[in-house]
Amino acid sequence: MSWRDFWNGEHAIYVSPRHKALHYRAVATDLIGHVPAADAVVLDHGCGEALDAGRVAAACGRLYLCEAAPTVREKLRARFGRDDAIAVVSPEEVEAMAPATLDLVVANSLVQYLSQGELKALLATWRDRLKPGGTLIVADVIPPDVSPLTDASELLAFAWHGGFLSAALAGLVRTAFSDYRKLRARYGLSTYTAEAITDLIREAGFVDLRRPENFGHNPHRMTFKAAKPAE
Ligand SMILES: C[S@@+](CC[C@H](N)C(=O)[O-])C[C@H]1O[C@@H](n2cnc3c(N)ncnc32)[C@H](O)[C@@H]1O
Repeated sequence: MSWRDFWNGEHAIYVSPRHKALHYRAVATDLIGHVPAADAVVLDHGCGEALDAGRVAAACGRLYLCEAAPTVREKLRARFGRDDAIAVVSPEEVEAMAPATLDLVVANSLVQYLSQGELKALLATWRDRLKPGGTLIVADVIPPDVSPLTDASELLAFAWHGGFLSAALAGLVRTAFSDYRKLRARYGLSTYTAEAITDLIREAGFVDLRRPENFGHNPHRMTFKAAKPAE
């Protein structure tokens, strides 16, 4: 099993429906905070189930939801197929987009599942598909020194505030025996120091790099915001 198979299959990464709903609500709220204009064209790359994408779409002109896993794309189409402001696309369809289509690209909790080569290729794609002056946000990047125990304690803090603590405790026990833990041990997750990922983003031709608050609930992970140079 690879990460790709993992995301395409049934998994219990969210400990309960409430956890999943609160997670996607928080990510949508953070994303909306970066939408540059009411008519902006936005790409959420590696969007997962994006349960709150309707709210994001209402805050921008058009929302592309890009997902590599075919089963997740089916769920997205079932949920958002009737929303004209939302288009569900595969990574290949992002590759096929015309240059200078997008105002904002967001990739939250994606780069840890990519090799450095895949990330470099995506940075080049995003730069090309963004309009001059457009914005890139790479969020929830894991620094090398954060252990899975820190992730677990952040989940418990989120669960405490969100009212799903017992589900989180049970979920952590399940995770300890799950495919996720085995995959994390076998393939690892790609981690970056702030300097390393900053260099990659700059080398891909982005400027004006900033460090806003991280998306979601885990402040030990990092978010980077950068711009495609205006022509
Ligand atoms: C941890 S989930 C994050 C989902 C969502 N962005 C969030 O914040 O909850 C990672 C998602 O990225 C998808 N993914 C992995 N590699 C991808 C790629 N190269 N292009 C698009 N999606 C990808 C996976 O299928 C999975 O649904």
